[in-house]
Amino acid sequence: MTFRIAPSILSADFARLGDEVEAVVRAGADLVHFDVMDNHYVPNLTVGPRVCEAIAPLCRVPIDVHLMVKPVDRIVPDFAAAGANIISFHPEASEHVDRTIELITASGCKAGLVLNPATPLSCLDHVLHKLDLVLIMSVNPGFGGQTFIAEALNKLRAVRERIDRGGREIWLEIDGGVKVENIAEIARAGADTFVAGSAIFESADYEATIGAMRARLASIG
Ligand code: DX5
Ligand code: ZN
Repeated sequence: MTFRIAPSILSADFARLGDEVEAVVRAGADLVHFDVMDNHYVPNLTVGPRVCEAIAPLCRVPIDVHLMVKPVDRIVPDFAAAGANIISFHPEASEHVDRTIELITASGCKAGLVLNPATPLSCLDHVLHKLDLVLIMSVNPGFGGQTFIAEALNKLRAVRERIDRGGREIWLEIDGGVKVENIAEIARAGADTFVAGSAIFESADYEATIGAMRARLASIG
C-alpha cells in the first residue's frame, strides 16, 4: 500500500505562503492540498487560480485542488491552466456531475469526487469508473481545525470495498481532523491519501510531524 500525505495550505501562514509551501514540500509532502472556498457553496472564502499559479513553480509535487465552489465548471480550465494536477469537486455543487468529470479529465487533470459527511455513496454509482480519486470529508467543509467525524471510517471501509471490487487504481483520500494520533486507524479503514492542515501547519516542526504520521502508517499490519 502506498500512502500519501497532503498538507492543506489552508492552515499555512498566508503572509508567507511561498515559504510555507517550500517548507512543507521539503518536509516530505507527497501532494499540496489546495482548498478553494467561495462563500456560497461553503461559508468561507479562500484563494483562486492566481494563487495556485503563483505557488505551482515552488511545489515540485502534484497540486491537489479541492473545489468547494458552486458552480464548478467555469473555474475548472482556469485551475488546469494554473498548474493543478488533481481537481476534486462536490456533486451537490455541479448540475451535471458526469460532465464535470469529463471536463476535468479533458483539461489534463485527474478527477476526484468529494463526499460530504451526509452525502450517500450512491453518488458514486455510474461514475466511479471515470474517477481517479474519491475524497471522503470527515468534517463539514469550510474550515480547518474541526474534529474528525467517526462515521467517516465506515464510509471509507465501504468505498474501499467498491474500489477494490472495480479493480482500477483510484486513490481514496480523507480530509478533516486528521492527526498523528488517528492516522493509523483511518488507514486501516481504507484511506491511502491523507489531508492534514492544522496538524502539520500548527506544529513546530513540519518534517517531524509528517515523519510521525509516516511512522504510524508504517506500523499498520
Ligand atoms: C476543510 C478543508 C480541509 C481543511 C482540513 O473544508 O477541505 O482541507 O484544511 O483542515 P484540518 O486538517 O485542520 O482539519
Ligand atoms: Zn480540503
